[in-house]
Amino acid sequence: MNDTTPTPARRVAALRARLGGIGFGADYNPDQWPEATRTEDLKLMTEAGVTVVNLAIFGWARVEPARDAYDFGYFDQVMDDLAAHGITADLATMTAAPPPWLVTEHPEVLPVTADGVVLSPGGRQHFCPSSPVFRDRAARLVEAVATHYRDHPALGLWHVGNEYGCHVAECFCDTSAADFRRWLGERYNSVDALNDAWSTDFWSQRYASFDQILPPRTAPTYPNPSQQLDFKRFGNDALRTCFETETAILRRITPDVPVTTNFLAGLKSVDIYDWAPTMDVLSLDSYPDPNRDQAHIGAAMSYDTIRCAGGGEPWLLTEQAPSAVNWRSRNAGKTPGDMRLWSWQAVAQGADAIMYFQWRQSRGGAEKFHSGMVPHAGVDTRVFREVSELGGELARVPELAGTRIHNRVALLSDWHSWWALELDSHPSDAVRHLDRAFDHYAALFDLGIGVDVVHPSADLSGYDLVVVPSLYLLSAEHGAKLSRFVADGGSIVVSFFSGIVDEHDRVHLGGYPGPLREALGVSVQEFWPTDVGRTFALRTPGAAEPEAGAADLWREDVTLKGARTELEFVGPHWEGRPAATVHSYGAGTARYIATRPDVATMRTLLARACADAAVDPVLPNLPAGIQAAIRRGEGYDVLILLNHTGSIHDIELPTARRDLLTDDHRLTHRTTLAPRGVAVLGSLPTEHGGTGQSLETE
Ligand code: GAL
Repeated sequence: MNDTTPTPARRVAALRARLGGIGFGADYNPDQWPEATRTEDLKLMTEAGVTVVNLAIFGWARVEPARDAYDFGYFDQVMDDLAAHGITADLATMTAAPPPWLVTEHPEVLPVTADGVVLSPGGRQHFCPSSPVFRDRAARLVEAVATHYRDHPALGLWHVGNEYGCHVAECFCDTSAADFRRWLGERYNSVDALNDAWSTDFWSQRYASFDQILPPRTAPTYPNPSQQLDFKRFGNDALRTCFETETAILRRITPDVPVTTNFLAGLKSVDIYDWAPTMDVLSLDSYPDPNRDQAHIGAAMSYDTIRCAGGGEPWLLTEQAPSAVNWRSRNAGKTPGDMRLWSWQAVAQGADAIMYFQWRQSRGGAEKFHSGMVPHAGVDTRVFREVSELGGELARVPELAGTRIHNRVALLSDWHSWWALELDSHPSDAVRHLDRAFDHYAALFDLGIGVDVVHPSADLSGYDLVVVPSLYLLSAEHGAKLSRFVADGGSIVVSFFSGIVDEHDRVHLGGYPGPLREALGVSVQEFWPTDVGRTFALRTPGAAEPEAGAADLWREDVTLKGARTELEFVGPHWEGRPAATVHSYGAGTARYIATRPDVATMRTLLARACADAAVDPVLPNLPAGIQAAIRRGEGYDVLILLNHTGSIHDIELPTARRDLLTDDHRLTHRTTLAPRGVAVLGSLPTEHGGTGQSLETE
């Protein structure tokens, strides 16, 4: 490899150099507006500090108005204007919404639901991911776009598709059925292997050949769960193939330009861990609901997921709302300060760009009530003022770009387990993947602990504590790996309904949770899910006080096999039965939680696990509702403090730092956070003597 061979790291370094710091911008849809508006847009973008825009995401119908009749005239002008204003284009491949001519000529590209309903055009994402016609037309378009813009000075990043799987995650048409059979053939080689994996002797489903297999279309009762699980995998792979087909073309034509696609936070259909390795930089769209008190904690969990999917590298927040969205049943705006606070939160958790949907609020179309950086009312508005101020602030801290975060706690997450956990015919339909992950994540968040959200196959050697929230599907291999992690001195906390099935949704026999039983020192025989809303008391064994919190949702019959009880159930039939256990295994400690404890009890249990593993919060003694994160660069770091409360807080800093958002260069040992306020505090670079060593102190 010579010095200029394109690599993901070099492509990303080139983008970073172009942006010169944390990128700032939005989806830009100038094609929805008259020409004169664009002139105003560019002036305002400069005023607001915009450095990057996602361009032409829905540009297909304009660029290819009829088959093979490419017309780049309009976007040439836009790209030239962007270049003239020093704004980078994250240029879309434009394949997210097939144009009318394509679906008129080829209605077979339209997706079909499990009930056999053909989804019509008129919205977007109306394509069957397995359609050879769609893939071919998309590939031709991408070839034309990439060839046309390969040397354009505005081009800095490719934006492939748009939020794959957001509307159409899977298609059940005959073309998809044939593609599913091909996929199964590659996965299983023989139909006997498939019969075994899918347990087809149940309900007379044994197949004699792959030709007999269909997608899990709507059936009289539960379709085969292993078939459903494989269809989720296939759906993910079919979409990834669309992405990879486009990416391969881009790599060939523009090997130096990085490639991304924008994932949607909390989307079940697309396995970010699976897609990540083919991308240069990961991107996330995040829409926390201002009507929900803990929206910022859910957002935090998705930021820790995307960062870790990208191996800890910085990622791009490609979309968020400047204020309200239009697609919930009640769409609240963000109250003053929240947009700034939540943007800095993304930066604190590794974002190297803050972008919005969209630049100018649409006048017509389905998203006209979705906020934009430039609202319907114009620029003399709170929203435009707030976004412009943020653009200015972000520009003050270019040293943040490219810095990384180091955490000692991992929370395991796996899309395959998510898909399998939420299949039908289970003990309870109230045990949901994101909710279960959130219960654990929120407790750690409240404790001020930095968390990495990683896949079970991740290298765990850098972690002291691994949290496993209802990880229903766990392969024997990953179970053994977790057990070794404990034996070697690590700590784990495992919650109920983890390690139940293998990768084919077949139960690990001999007592639950199969592959983790030995490390946990427990064995479970039966589950007792309860009605939603019903709670039951918990007690510390031998404690004088009768109760130590409450629990709900689930109980199970735990037999101790070496573990000791940390919390027990109280009451008829359950008196004294273990609800939470702890076990010394090899050099490590394994905890098991056999119910859903209330928030305070969950926090207590995880605090104990952190103490055992000697894991400290990012900053000691922070008041409730203050989030801290540290991004580390070469020889310096930046502490970001976020006040998610409505009160003022004075924060003592363990080492002296400099406020990077003000012109005050003095070092300080304390900072005051306004309600919903933010502080961005730099250490001294080591060449200046290390953190807090010298220079004038307040
Ligand atoms: C995203 C999408 C954007 C826009 C936005 C509105 O899911 O990528 O195109 O629709 O939502 O919130």
